[in-house]
Amino acid sequence: MTDFYAVIGNPIAHSKSPLIHAEFSRQTGQDIRYEAILAPVDAFPATVSSFRARGGKGANVTVPFKLEAHKISTRLTERAQAAQAVNTLVFEPGGIAGDNTDGAGLVRDIRANLKFLIKARRVLLMGAGGAARGVILPLLEHKPQVLAIANRTKQKACELQQLFSRYGNGNIVSAAYADLAGEKFDLVINATSASLRGELPALPAGIFADGSLAYDMMYSDGLTPFLQHAKQQGAARLADGIGMLVEQAAESFLLWRGIRPETAPVIEMLASCTAS
Ligand code: ATR
Repeated sequence: MTDFYAVIGNPIAHSKSPLIHAEFSRQTGQDIRYEAILAPVDAFPATVSSFRARGGKGANVTVPFKLEAHKISTRLTERAQAAQAVNTLVFEPGGIAGDNTDGAGLVRDIRANLKFLIKARRVLLMGAGGAARGVILPLLEHKPQVLAIANRTKQKACELQQLFSRYGNGNIVSAAYADLAGEKFDLVINATSASLRGELPALPAGIFADGSLAYDMMYSDGLTPFLQHAKQQGAARLADGIGMLVEQAAESFLLWRGIRPETAPVIEMLASCTAS
């Protein structure tokens, strides 16, 4: 019997998740079908219910429904609670388990694929919206020396610092971009939505330490504005969000099917598609 899964969002037509999960299913021999569902912006819960009624076993959730997915979950993992957002639903008898695999996906890409050690390094997280909040706990689990959260609206970075302080060891700081002048970081992660509009947060010059990795959670054909800037500023290594996208999908697949698929061939396939 084929099991059904889906990604639910709005818009959804350009989602790469069906392609990624089709590859995972082919590779692992798991008999699943994974579709993309466009939910009306005011009808996310009804869309989930009707997918479940059609035999859906679980779903990924993307923009703009991650907060609503958090609300309709009857059970939350700690990382979903901390993120206050859900990107993976598992339909269970009598309820819905909500998880968030985005942060684990990011950290796995950085650690396992890019072989970059987070422990004892100076990490800068740019942005304080939903995307940033979702990755803070998994980053802290790797014990950075400092996790600086910088945001255009500093107040929001302060709020995240306070929200997550109990998970750190006094190593979380918050800042406006201008406050970072004179500081250097080993890992700089762009979790803002600035790249979507071709914009760049107002980072001071000279923040990339020797050997640093610049990571943009977004991806595009060619380098994103942030990665172009990081290259000019001398960042040693550049990575976009394709690896994170595939890793968060693999983490969801593991939750649903109990098997972790190989991600490297899928990342390679997608990277060559976006480069062409
Ligand atoms: P998401 O769920 O993608 O995180 P969001 O919650 O709307 O989306 O948050 C967007 C983030 O990108 C915020 O941190 C925002 O900064 P503000 O809180 O100051 O608005 C940041 N952002 C968007 N455009 C930006 C720009 N041009 N420069 C700097 N930061 C930007």
